[in-house]
Amino acid sequence: MILTCPQCKKQHNIDERRIPPNVKMARCKYCEHRFPFVREEKSSETLQEAPDKTAGGPRKIGVSLSKGGVGKTTTAVNLAAGLACTGHKVLLVDTDTQGQDSFMLGVTPRAGLTELVTDELEPDEALFEARENLWLLAGGKSLAGLKRLIDRKDFGGELTMAETLCKFDKRFDYIIVDTSPGWDPLTVNVLFYVDELLIPVSLEVMTLQGLVEFLNSIAAIQKYRKNISLRYILPTFLDKRVRKSEGVLGKLTDLYGERMCSPIRYNVRISEAPAYGQTIYEYAPGSPGAHDYRELIRKVADKPGLFK
Ligand SMILES: Nc1ncnc2c1ncn2[C@@H]1O[C@H](COP(=O)(O)OP(=O)(O)OP(=O)(O)O)[C@@H](O)[C@H]1O
Ligand SMILES: [Mg+2]
Repeated sequence: MILTCPQCKKQHNIDERRIPPNVKMARCKYCEHRFPFVREEKSSETLQEAPDKTAGGPRKIGVSLSKGGVGKTTTAVNLAAGLACTGHKVLLVDTDTQGQDSFMLGVTPRAGLTELVTDELEPDEALFEARENLWLLAGGKSLAGLKRLIDRKDFGGELTMAETLCKFDKRFDYIIVDTSPGWDPLTVNVLFYVDELLIPVSLEVMTLQGLVEFLNSIAAIQKYRKNISLRYILPTFLDKRVRKSEGVLGKLTDLYGERMCSPIRYNVRISEAPAYGQTIYEYAPGSPGAHDYRELIRKVADKPGLFK
């Protein structure tokens, strides 16, 4: 079949039989542009097709927003740790080169996601048991190499993570994926892997415009992954003394109704905990921050009686 790059209009003669059936993106060899790859036959079906959700498999939740400093890592870590406290087996995956999830949990794994994807290590060597029931696939600087590896793939780069992490489908109840700010090949990989999205929206720094732009990008991915759902909007950094906070909160509630989670208040204990390598439940179990994150866990697990 002939594929034409929508950017430089160069044509590529492709042997369709050599392309795995789940591949949906192509990269132009001439101008490096990435574009959706639609098979000649059944093209409309391919566009609508969503990856199979593993029956009885883990819930896969991505904590994501392109804006920085909104509480993604804090939320991913405390959500994962809180679910682990309730007896669930949880895997936390850090897809950010900052490697903050390890720091927040006070651990220093010597390997993580990169070594797992590149087959340098076996799953048991790449996973780090950070707490009882809580395993970490660490991020960090080595992810830069992984991004290059994904970028170099002509086909299927966006499925790299999904193909690797499917080996954990029987092992965990929850897989929580923390993403980096911005929009990079790993973020796209996360969106081709998780089924649910939790979006932290900082009431301090966030404009609704930023959220709308992010949601437009998600909508573009949803064309190829119908199963991914925007499940939770989590307002963070709520400070009742700041009038703007209440205004943004009200607008979000109007827009997202059921998907809205109870807000996480601005709480200095939350910002202190990482320096001690502790979760909020360990560092300040009686604090408003711990209270708010427990409320989030009740909503995500859909168990109103948890921790009571
Ligand atoms: N509710 C809160 N109250 C006070 N401080 C908070 C709260 N939530 C997060 N913080 C602090 O704000 C900073 C940014 O949070 P965090 O690292 O979780 O954001 P992020 O979205 O992951 O950032 P990045 O986009 O850089 O990855 C951290 O120092 C964190 O401890
Ligand atoms: Mg972060």
